[in-house]
Parts: sequence; structure tokens; C-alpha cells
Amino acid sequence: MLTIKPIDAPCGAVIVGVDLSAGLAAEEIAEIRSAWLEYHVLVFPEQELNNADIERFVLSFGRFGEDPFFDPIKGHNHIAAIRRDADEKTPLFADNWHTDWSFQVKPPIGTCLYGIKIPASGGDTLFANQQLAFAKLPADFKARIEHLTAIHSAASAYSPDGLYSDKLESNAGRSMDIVVSEEARETQIHPLIRPHTETGKPAIYSTAGYIQGFVELGADESKALLAELYAYQGSAEFVYRHKWEKNMLVLWDNRSVLHKATGGYDGHDRLLHRATISQVD
Ligand code: SIN
Repeated sequence: MLTIKPIDAPCGAVIVGVDLSAGLAAEEIAEIRSAWLEYHVLVFPEQELNNADIERFVLSFGRFGEDPFFDPIKGHNHIAAIRRDADEKTPLFADNWHTDWSFQVKPPIGTCLYGIKIPASGGDTLFANQQLAFAKLPADFKARIEHLTAIHSAASAYSPDGLYSDKLESNAGRSMDIVVSEEARETQIHPLIRPHTETGKPAIYSTAGYIQGFVELGADESKALLAELYAYQGSAEFVYRHKWEKNMLVLWDNRSVLHKATGGYDGHDRLLHRATISQVD
């Protein structure tokens, strides 16, 4: 029987009693979706899945997301490898708070990540609950930000002179298939406080990294506010630290949480397969 066990943290629940390799019944999909909306991050331990199982799981909750700037794994156009090899010296991938692809017109509602090679220690993923962060905003801070429109772009990460650029010597030997592109300079606006597309609950949406500034503010004011917001959004009171196991699938809600990779596993391989989920219109 499918059982939902809330994690003692600002977000997260463990789901047991379900075999994702066998496909999900309609009632199970409904139960999981409702838990996803309530807990934001769902952890499915001890699931022996192949890439087709991951794809089927994605299609139970929406359609495949559009994933720019990564080459997919061979034979599976919607799955990317989040990989770091034992001998790799490149800066860690995704080591900053973000929500996936917030620079898109319709960013993915969710992402799932499946553990294949997991180091014995280190490599945790952090999640920060942004519905809670909104609910706990001090009144004066809320009044300063609730009307703002954020300008999102992938430029600082995926443009030819971004963080992951192959022109940077520090990126030589990166095992992940990142493809930088001029397209990363495009911008897209979203309200900073964004209602959830299914529950309507407001959350602080995205953060510095993908947000370049605000339509209503000048460059200096935007920069200062982004730094202040970044510190607030990742406050310990909003954060769940997820420890990985091999054969564990995690599904998170990009509309309500930020996430961030962590290191601490130099000398050990880490490999996870990742797919994003878009809302069916
Ligand atoms: C990601 O941001 O997609 C990767 C997170 C991680 O590697 O822990």
C-alpha cells in the first residue's frame, strides 16, 4: 500500500509501498500528485528503474520539459546525466540556489532525479521551501517586493561567457554534457511572487543566478535586492538537506522550492539521471 511519510523538515516526504518500475495506477498518480503539492519534494527509495521507467514516471505527471544547454544521454532525448567523475577538478555543477529553467516562457513544473552512482558521503541536494519563505516574509520586506516583476535569463550560466563556458580553463575536463549557447542571453519576465499553477499558493519564484534584475528597479537597486533575497531564500528555516542513496528517485516542485547541489565527495563518482516535467496545457 502506498504510504506517505512526511520528513521532519520544511518540505519533503518519503513515499513507500509503490513500485515505479511497474507503472502507476490512476489512484496512485492522484495520491502522489496531491503529496507533491503538499510536501513539494517526494523521495522514493529502493526503486530499480531504467531510463524508460523514468520517462514513464515523468509522463504520469505532465509532459517532457524542454531542456536546453545539456546534451541528453544516448537514446533518451529527455534525460540528462548529472555527473561528476572521481578525478574531476571542475567547479561543482548547480552549486547555487535555483529553480529549473526559470528563464523559459513556461518553465518546468517539476524535476525528477534518480541516483545511479552515489558517494558514501557528500553530494547532498538542498531544497528551500519558497511558499514558506513567502509566508514568513517580514511585512516591510514583503511590501518592498510583492509587486516586482523579475527579469530571468540563463546568460550568467550558459552563455558563451557564462559560468559553464568551455572557454574557461577551470571547466576543462567537465564530465557533464553542457552546451553553452548565445540563446542563453534571451530574457523572460515572471512575477517575483508567483501563484502556484495548481494550488494558487504564492511562492518567491526563482532567485539570483537566473534573475538579472527587476523591471521596476534600476541596476544597482536590483543587484542589492537580489543579494538580500538570495540570503533570505536559503535561510536554514526553509531548508531540507536530502541525502541520496543508489536507486532513489526524487521528484520536486519547481514552483515552490529552490534547490542546490553540494560537494564534499572529491575522489568519488556521482551520477544521477534527470528529467524535467512540463504542465500539460
Ligand atoms: C540539479 O540542480 O539539477 C542537480 C542537483 C544535484 O546535483 O544535487
